[in-house]
Amino acid sequence: MLISVIGCGYLGAVHATCLAHLGHTVVGIDSDRELAARLDAGRPSFYEPGLESLLTETLATGRLRFTGDPAAVAGSSVHFLCVGTPQLPDRPGADLSALDAAVGALLPYLRDGDLVVGKSTVPVGTAERLADRFAAAGSGAAVAWNPEFLREGHAVADTLRPDRLVYGSGTGDERAVAILNEVYAPVIAAGTPVISADLATAELVKVAANSFLATKISFINAMAEMCEAAGADVTVLADAIGRDVRIGRQFLNAGVGFGGGCLPKDIRAFGARAAELGVDRVAGLLDQVDRINLGRRDRIVDLTAEVCAGDLVGARIAVLGASFKPDSDDVRDSPALAVALDLQRRGAHVRVTDPQAADNARKRSADLTVVDSVTEAADGADAVLLLTEWREYRELRPADLAGLVRHRRIVDGRNVLDPGRWRASGWSYRAPGRL
Ligand code: UDX
Repeated sequence: MLISVIGCGYLGAVHATCLAHLGHTVVGIDSDRELAARLDAGRPSFYEPGLESLLTETLATGRLRFTGDPAAVAGSSVHFLCVGTPQLPDRPGADLSALDAAVGALLPYLRDGDLVVGKSTVPVGTAERLADRFAAAGSGAAVAWNPEFLREGHAVADTLRPDRLVYGSGTGDERAVAILNEVYAPVIAAGTPVISADLATAELVKVAANSFLATKISFINAMAEMCEAAGADVTVLADAIGRDVRIGRQFLNAGVGFGGGCLPKDIRAFGARAAELGVDRVAGLLDQVDRINLGRRDRIVDLTAEVCAGDLVGARIAVLGASFKPDSDDVRDSPALAVALDLQRRGAHVRVTDPQAADNARKRSADLTVVDSVTEAADGADAVLLLTEWREYRELRPADLAGLVRHRRIVDGRNVLDPGRWRASGWSYRAPGRL
């Protein structure tokens, strides 16, 4: 099939590459010509395990190319919308300007029978609005919604072997379902279930899934607060409740909370849309999830002050991790960076390090001192904070740092270290949710 993928950020770059890998002829289009040129040369603008090699491989087949030219959509019969829908700058809610601009650029090239498939995360009702816009412009193209559930760090595997495919289409639009089945034929043949729904349900599935995950994390972080108040241990509690198959152990890791380009903005946008539709209880629930999450950053700052005997002014703090999670160089809404900046505001001398996200951290905040190794970060430190659980940080031994730091104090913001081991080596160890 001839397919265009519009928007080649995280989602679009991975989607275009994977569709070409599945055998389709794909053109990826991005208004950022430099980004498109980089991808066309086999260089993604972000770190994602496995992507660069798959990109190089698929570009070599001749089935994949990237361009900044919007006219390149001509000739494709299926168009995936993969543009970003970030948070509005001044209030909760999704900024749909990139989506609207992409649709405006696509419209002149659409032919009757083309299928426009939204993958971006949008407020419920957006697909219907786009369908109306096409109809008003006299276009015979149809709209479908096919939300994407990929995780950063696992993007290629999640795209090629997803848990499920969700299609949303207009009432009775069996053709859209048939086209999507053809697009994903090898994925479906490998056993991936397909769930077909109306447009609104498909849009909601995505935000509901992310909201559930965010709620699960905030739930365990609320339990961490209880554990601290009651002298209990949230890691044991998570293991024990997670054994119940109805609950499950995943997304029950208490710590500094969630960040990234999806969960925080998605729960805020969903809350805003719920409020618009008058569903105040959903808005209220998600507001609490957000508040609990943001509160964990403050808790880590408090724990740091506690290990530093209450005095952060002039304290030298090593922050291990800048990305919002391991195996990613993404620092959007990163809890690690938020904590580092807050400590700095309170007068601490902070040095941040990260195996992949150091450059992005430098770009995000020129005020932060970002160094290239744990050794540099921990040199002379009064306290070490582990805030992103990269494997190399999880595997740190007390002896690796003991000779570097000024005081043996560690705050394990992700609950990944063994407290007994660190305490036995003379470290003062603190972590959220356990004493
Ligand atoms: C998320 C969804 O998982 C994915 O399905 C969707 O398509 C995009 O949003 P992603 O943002 O890549 O993916 O990261 P995810 O692995 O979900 O982690 C989100 C945040 O939650 C990270 O900051 C992570 O550190 C945090 N987290 C995760 C916890 O704090 N505790 C946990 O138990 C799990």
